[in-house]
Amino acid sequence: MPWTPNLSVGVDLIDNQHKMCFEKAEKLFEAGKNNSAKEYISELLDFLEDYTKKHFADEEKYMLSINYPGYAEQKKAHTGFIAQLAKLRTDYNVSGGNLLVILNANKMVLDWLTQHISYMDKKIGQYAASRK
Ligand SMILES: [Fe+2]
Repeated sequence: MPWTPNLSVGVDLIDNQHKMCFEKAEKLFEAGKNNSAKEYISELLDFLEDYTKKHFADEEKYMLSINYPGYAEQKKAHTGFIAQLAKLRTDYNVSGGNLLVILNANKMVLDWLTQHISYMDKKIGQYAASRK
């Protein structure tokens, strides 16, 4: 699934990181068709653990820099996603990457990306624009 302009938050730093995440998820998804499922899910988890660390930190720094009033709500959502990711990692370690874990992982990532960006991250951009 590609990043589409309707997902634009209007802040370049955030948009570029979101685009990168979509690209990477797509690449992994493609590779997953050829690779073994086990390899795929392990790579996806590695990527997401790295990506969320950097992206959430950058996004949070940006929100603080503009005194964004929805910061606490965002921070909570980010923490929630990190917890879901940790659960996925545990499920993966326990099951060895069965199909259910893979389907859950794909669904979680896509849902989260689109929902979180459309409903929460966009508000950051709107707030930033309103201050100008
Ligand atoms: Fe966010």
